[in-house]
Amino acid sequence: MDPARLAEIASRWRKETKTMTRLRKTALGLTALLGALMIHPAVADTIKVGVIGPFSGPFGLYGKNFKAGIEAWQDVNGKSVKGHDVEFIYRDLEGIDPAKAKTLAQELIVKDKVQYLAGAYFTPDAMAIATVVDQGKTPFVVMNAATSAITEKSPLVVRTSFTLWQNTVPAAKIALERGLKKMVIAVSDYGPGLDAEAAFRKTFEAGGGSIADAIRMPVKTTDFGPIMQRVKDTGADGVFAFLPSGPPTLGFVKAFIDNGLKESGKKLITTGDLTLEADLPALGDAGLGIISTYHYANSHDSAENKAFLAALKKTGLPENETVMTSVAAYDGARLIYRMIEATDGKQDPQKAVDAVKGYAWTSPRGPVSIDPKTRHIRQTIYERVVDKKDGVYFNKEGKAFPDQPDWGLAPSQ
Ligand code: PHB
Repeated sequence: MDPARLAEIASRWRKETKTMTRLRKTALGLTALLGALMIHPAVADTIKVGVIGPFSGPFGLYGKNFKAGIEAWQDVNGKSVKGHDVEFIYRDLEGIDPAKAKTLAQELIVKDKVQYLAGAYFTPDAMAIATVVDQGKTPFVVMNAATSAITEKSPLVVRTSFTLWQNTVPAAKIALERGLKKMVIAVSDYGPGLDAEAAFRKTFEAGGGSIADAIRMPVKTTDFGPIMQRVKDTGADGVFAFLPSGPPTLGFVKAFIDNGLKESGKKLITTGDLTLEADLPALGDAGLGIISTYHYANSHDSAENKAFLAALKKTGLPENETVMTSVAAYDGARLIYRMIEATDGKQDPQKAVDAVKGYAWTSPRGPVSIDPKTRHIRQTIYERVVDKKDGVYFNKEGKAFPDQPDWGLAPSQ
């Protein structure tokens, strides 16, 4: 063959091979991309929510209930919103440790790229988390911590649990209604305890009662004998108490009984943190008649609560381990879903929070709404008395105080 013709054929062949290689490369690339998309179809569109709480240690029951409440919500309502998958990731914070709470929150925002934060059992931890949410543009749904001032730390904080002001104002009214004139206040010496003390004193004194003594107990106190002696010495009609729910609350109520105060006719009025259903078997018949005020009792008689308890049971949480953090987490997950829906999965924190302001629904605990001004949940607070039916101890709900705001902040009217 003519050498010029040969060179032309060789050159065309090289060009075609190059094109083929390019095409093959493109095809391979596309296949790889498709494969990746098929393996991780939601990689680009999973909304992550970081939940910080006590999942181990002496307060582990409360974290376990955060998780069960969230799982129950997802079980009933699905795991995606408007086509966006929602993934909750959990970080363990055993006790009061604000420095660790802040680090965990920062890591969740920066490394895990969460779009929402939730949980927080103790007030100091919630306060620390609240300091980083503005920078991270991360709405934060508080599912337990109950000092009023937490929602004031950032416009991105919303709360679905309760506050001590909210539960204690009705407690003081009940003490007055029951004819108690002189009371001792005993509280844990930190945020929620100081709120409880202020709320009880203000309401009780305004109704004509007097405060014989106000005792602030270090949070770690476990020996309540000397405190009971102090209560006896004042000759008061009874004691109003708040401690954070967990081993110390059971210790306090047991000390009230074991030191003979109950037997001598003194009254114990508490927020429901001290008479959780999970603790009642340990008190036995000696606990019968203890009065508390709270936003949730497992025995609350409504269709919504029955459905909620059934969904919780499906997550594997035993009935006798169901506590208040489950309902706050269930309602908290509802708010997060609503925020994701309102923003169509985009990071628009102000729009997200605005979407839950004024939002009202029927919770397993009863009718609730988010106060647009304080971003705290308004709800019915119930008077309850420890009772027993068919061998099972429970809090029997009585008088209801409907639509209670957070009295510790200036709520919307
Ligand atoms: C709180 O630290 O705010 C707190 C913890 C446990 C409770 C109530 C309040 O039961």
